[in-house]
Amino acid sequence: MIAHVLRRLWLWFERMYLVYVVDRIVLASSIRKFYRVAAGHIYFQALAAGVELDLFTLLDDEGSKSLAELSKRLELELQPCRILLQALTATGVLQRKRGKYANTIMSRIAFSSRDPRNLKATILWQKHIVYRPMAHFLESLREYRNVGLEEIAGTEATLYERLGRHPKLEKIFQDSMQEISIQANDLLARYVDFGKTRLLVDVGGGNGTNLLAVARRHPHLLGRVFDLPSICEKANQHFEAERMADRLSTIQGNVFTDEFPEGADTFMFCHFLCIWSKDQNISFLRKAYEKLPVGGRVIVFDIMENDSGDGPLAAAMGSPYFIGLATGTGMIYMKSEYEEMCRQAGFTRTARVELPREHTAVIATK
Ligand SMILES: C[S@@+](CC[C@H](N)C(=O)[O-])C[C@H]1O[C@@H](n2cnc3c(N)ncnc32)[C@H](O)[C@@H]1O
Repeated sequence: MIAHVLRRLWLWFERMYLVYVVDRIVLASSIRKFYRVAAGHIYFQALAAGVELDLFTLLDDEGSKSLAELSKRLELELQPCRILLQALTATGVLQRKRGKYANTIMSRIAFSSRDPRNLKATILWQKHIVYRPMAHFLESLREYRNVGLEEIAGTEATLYERLGRHPKLEKIFQDSMQEISIQANDLLARYVDFGKTRLLVDVGGGNGTNLLAVARRHPHLLGRVFDLPSICEKANQHFEAERMADRLSTIQGNVFTDEFPEGADTFMFCHFLCIWSKDQNISFLRKAYEKLPVGGRVIVFDIMENDSGDGPLAAAMGSPYFIGLATGTGMIYMKSEYEEMCRQAGFTRTARVELPREHTAVIATK
């Protein structure tokens, strides 16, 4: 009898302990995941505050600091400063050792001005342009349009056109595009073969950062940015400043209403087709196809979704932005979808170059 009771007790203890262990491991990890996704909007504001206060550059320059030191340097009262540091430390942006706060490898690379790979402009773009509009995400899904654009004054249908009336926002936007492109276009220039390209047209080429990278590495080619008028102005200034205006110039145009230029043997679409619907993309690719000689190519260079449809995280960041704010039509498409769009536009041969930083170049030949 006693043995039976003891055995029942032991089984009960084992079960309870097991439950405890399961709770500690499984539940705790689910809760961590919950906070990571459910409070992203708050963590982001803490990060943006740190970037705007230039906290990460300060820590990079001067090493770890105590709360009291940071409160003084950042000109924040002790408790607000502590709240900022608490958020940044708990999310793993900063680390706290022996009572002092220091950068992690990630924050030193991504948020200190000293690192050429930093993504500070991207954080400012997210804060000043994207953050408020994304509060309308559900309406955007329901209405299948970029409802969030209503947060930015104007009547134009896309963020790109509307930014033309907001020079400060347009600068924030172009700075971040340049920052993202500078990191990615080095891969494009290095790993995609431009050996036979003579005249390269970068459709929606922005301020010309991609074209500059390709042209520097391939001195035999000439390039043109094809973009909206206010952006072409910026690209021309950029080419002048970089002393490349003898080889690089711009063509003002709208992909919907204007013909593509004659004479190009390569059209490039960098971070551009993700903005639009598949049908719109096929029409742009067809416009390029019609202007190309036999053997001419289009290069689609972008962050792309895996064909397995389960990532990367960059797709989960990009697609909601395109539907909720930028145009209401685009998304981060799969690599195989881009290949199919090229085929539907008339191209017979496609190839892929998989690149680091979640970028892929899909190359289609006429
Ligand atoms: C996401 S940005 C990409 C810029 C650049 N290709 C890069 O990779 O950094 C999209 C570009 O498309 C341009 N764009 C948007 N609508 C356009 C239109 N209807 N016609 C031509 N260019 C357009 C914008 O002005 C902007 O420069």
